Amino acid sequence: MNIQWYPGHMTRTRRQMAVSLKQVDAVCEVVDARIPQVSRNPDMDEIAGNKPRILILNRTDLADPEATKQWAAFYRSKGYAVLTTDAKSGAGVAKFSAAVRTLLADKIEKWKEKGQTGRSVKVMVVGIPNVGKSTFINKVLGRKSAKAADKPGVTRGQQWFRVEGGLELLDTPGILWPKLDDERTGILLAVTGAVKDNILDVETLACKLMEILYHHAPELLTERYKFELPHEDEEIDFLGYELLMRAGRKRGFLISGGEIDTERMARILLDEYRGGKLGRITLETPDEYAEEQANG
Ligand code: G4P
Repeated sequence: MNIQWYPGHMTRTRRQMAVSLKQVDAVCEVVDARIPQVSRNPDMDEIAGNKPRILILNRTDLADPEATKQWAAFYRSKGYAVLTTDAKSGAGVAKFSAAVRTLLADKIEKWKEKGQTGRSVKVMVVGIPNVGKSTFINKVLGRKSAKAADKPGVTRGQQWFRVEGGLELLDTPGILWPKLDDERTGILLAVTGAVKDNILDVETLACKLMEILYHHAPELLTERYKFELPHEDEEIDFLGYELLMRAGRKRGFLISGGEIDTERMARILLDEYRGGKLGRITLETPDEYAEEQANG
């Protein structure tokens, strides 16, 4: 696995975030609802310290609604405020401001007691690249593209956005790195498009995705590609590759000599999964995560 993430960037971002954190009341973390845990920055708890946290389960249009409910309950049980959104269409985003105010109710009450009624709530929005953070910020702001706010004297690299109703958002200073620990997380990040395909060749990645889909949503796989799943007693060496071949054969992707064009099928599978064409599929569950934690 070859994911490049430069330690220099990580150190700089960490430093910038420590400075920014002092200026905000809460941290809002955007994650991909299909891989909530994998799409979090692994050092976020440490970086965010004691700041109240709101977690945005984004891309819910592509995730299994039942699994999203489970994840929301899971994070709420850990003390986070949770919001489920589809930032692309804007679904769920309108609830953000109220959710932040509920999260910070005690603090806002104290401000009121001190006569600071007009004080705005400041929130830092963080997320690894490509989880939909900019799209989310734009939707909260109610505009098409993000634009730096008119705030004088901001630290270089900081982008503040003023939302109507006394809310100010700070975009992540620097680039937040994804998990880098193991092959599984690398594959999940790659199949959802959070990191570039080229960490693995496209066919290998598609084979891995086939295996994951076979495990999580076999019926959606057969519905889309119309192939038969292997019988229990069938001996198959490489399940993912076998499924890729079956799908390619059904689609009629042949190259000279009648060989199946698995590379073409691989690209299509990745595109179609990312675009939600196979249905709404979540690739990790809270139970799997808990099991993984238990196994060290
Ligand atoms: P980032 O700031 O976290 O790096 O991510 P960004 O907002 O740029 O979003 C990355 C891609 O994800 C964009 O697609 C964006 O439209 C899409 N996206 C964001 N939120 C959602 C969501 O809730 N659901 C879905 N389905 N997609 C979402 P793109 O292909 O890069 O651009 P475009 O096709 O929108 O032009």
